[in-house]
Amino acid sequence: MTTETVARDVRMKVWRGDASGGQFVEFAVPSDPGMVVLDVVHRIQATHAPDLAVRWNCKAGKCGSCSAEINGHPKLMCMTRMNEFAPGDEIAVSPVKTFPVIKDLVTDVSFNYEKAKTVPPFKPKPKDPDGKRRMYQEDIERVQEFHKCIECFLCQDVCHVIRDHEENKQSFSGPRFFVRLASLEMHPLDTNERIDLIRAKHGLGFCNITKCCTEVCPEDIHITDNAIIPLKERVVSAHYDPIAWALRRMRGKKDAFAPPEPKPPSA
Ligand code: SF4
Ligand code: SF4
Ligand code: FES
Repeated sequence: MTTETVARDVRMKVWRGDASGGQFVEFAVPSDPGMVVLDVVHRIQATHAPDLAVRWNCKAGKCGSCSAEINGHPKLMCMTRMNEFAPGDEIAVSPVKTFPVIKDLVTDVSFNYEKAKTVPPFKPKPKDPDGKRRMYQEDIERVQEFHKCIECFLCQDVCHVIRDHEENKQSFSGPRFFVRLASLEMHPLDTNERIDLIRAKHGLGFCNITKCCTEVCPEDIHITDNAIIPLKERVVSAHYDPIAWALRRMRGKKDAFAPPEPKPPSA
């Protein structure tokens, strides 16, 4: 990282195109001290390419909409400072690869909204006799981290299970949804049943704990260590631990995706 005190000219390659194809186009523009990549993209839009499509909203790393690949790395454009690049460095900005391009830097992330609909919601247990619900502070602290997610989908973009295998999208929801599922599963008041769903519909077994998702998360959520591994442990104990399995049967929680039990023959 360099300390910038004066404007400098930069050359930035921006991917331009749509679903039918495209290529990088290079632009030369001044970059002022303190600028981030999104500022330069906006300057290109203002001075060279008024039809350049880019999605953004807060410019503060909180809305999650300016996700892109900068020199091939999934990043937020508004949180990537220009002084991370030395004078003369190549800067190439392209749309996230895992989702279909709509135009230029804008992709269709509706895959994520469809997956979100399949997560059973929070279902709190009944109130105590005095009309209150009680939780231990340490239980709340454990799930607090997951609520920092800004839905930038950078973790989804980097995850090789769907990045390189379009065919897996049907059966794998991706790290953002393991964070969401963990936040619900570990909530001390929640009673909804999701373990079978996590295994059978969200495809937790596809994850081989490479930790790439954790490395790109701008909110520093420990996706693998704190969400995915504990979920894997819960799935294993629910299905392969005989005591946990027996307790689940006694509580009447059957595997929703197991084949139906045979009916007795009719008289
Ligand atoms: S740890 Fe799992 S979810 Fe995260 S990027 Fe790797 S395979 Fe995907
Ligand atoms: S978990 Fe992190 S990387 Fe994934 S969508 Fe949320 S904030 Fe983005
Ligand atoms: S513009 Fe909101 S996170 Fe970048």
